[in-house]
Amino acid sequence: MDFAGKIALVTGGASGIGREVARQLSAAGAAVAVADINIEGAEAVAAELVATGAKAIAIALDVADADQVNAGVARTCHELGGLHILVHSAGIGVERGFLETSEEEWRRIINVDLTGTFLCGQAAAREMVKGGYGRIVNIASTAAFRGGTGRAAYGAAKGGVVTLTRVMAVELAPHGVTVNALAPGAIDTELVAKMHSTKTRQVYTRAIPEDRYGTPAEVASAALYLASEAARYVTGHIMSVDGGFLAAGLMLDKD
Ligand code: NAI
Repeated sequence: MDFAGKIALVTGGASGIGREVARQLSAAGAAVAVADINIEGAEAVAAELVATGAKAIAIALDVADADQVNAGVARTCHELGGLHILVHSAGIGVERGFLETSEEEWRRIINVDLTGTFLCGQAAAREMVKGGYGRIVNIASTAAFRGGTGRAAYGAAKGGVVTLTRVMAVELAPHGVTVNALAPGAIDTELVAKMHSTKTRQVYTRAIPEDRYGTPAEVASAALYLASEAARYVTGHIMSVDGGFLAAGLMLDKD
């Protein structure tokens, strides 16, 4: 895939899936703004890309803060010359039972994972419609579709991301902007290292037909497809990248 001449903003770009998306987009020719609340991490990734000869900048922002998001989009447009692609990967998670989830925790997860998707998508789309072109890729989760234990706030937020993605796709189609989402399953990242207990990992792996967790690179390559010219007629789609987890029911031959 060729992204020469394209300008991309990747939120959550300091770590995990977002970092790998930034690397792959950059290697394919895009100029990349690496945005994250962890500015040291974002700067390290941007420096890594610049060291390969690519164009990249780091942006400090909290995706749940409208002013910071708007300023980050404005800086991307100003310093890189526009905005064609948003891959919104910033997110947080927690494994907490429904009965134990506090109101504060509920609001924190909804604020970052759902409101953050709204704010980043809206700010980016307002720029994209000016040029009549855009690609937005949100990151939902298989937790949007399956009622797994410990995912009340996280699953509800990701369910909201799925519906928001579809509404955005419909409203932005006349403006040349496609909007899709990925639904990753279990992917080995810093987030999962914090969120999944040893027991979760064992039970989860048993439920995955491919019998393993995925890698950030495997999710990033799906994001690049949705951000590419090849996907120009794909919009409002939720693509699972989950080793078959959502497809699975009974697996009699599996341990
Ligand atoms: P990660 O923890 O490795 O990376 C997330 C990044 O988002 C971090 O760099 C973090 O600093 C940043 N971030 C967190 N809150 C932020 C905020 N308020 N503003 C700006 N940046 C913020 O996590 P990972 O696994 O790469 O997750 C990326 C996305 O993929 C998240 O939306 C997550 O929910 C989703 N996802 C991950 C799965 C997995 O198994 N790893 C499965 C399904 C979805």
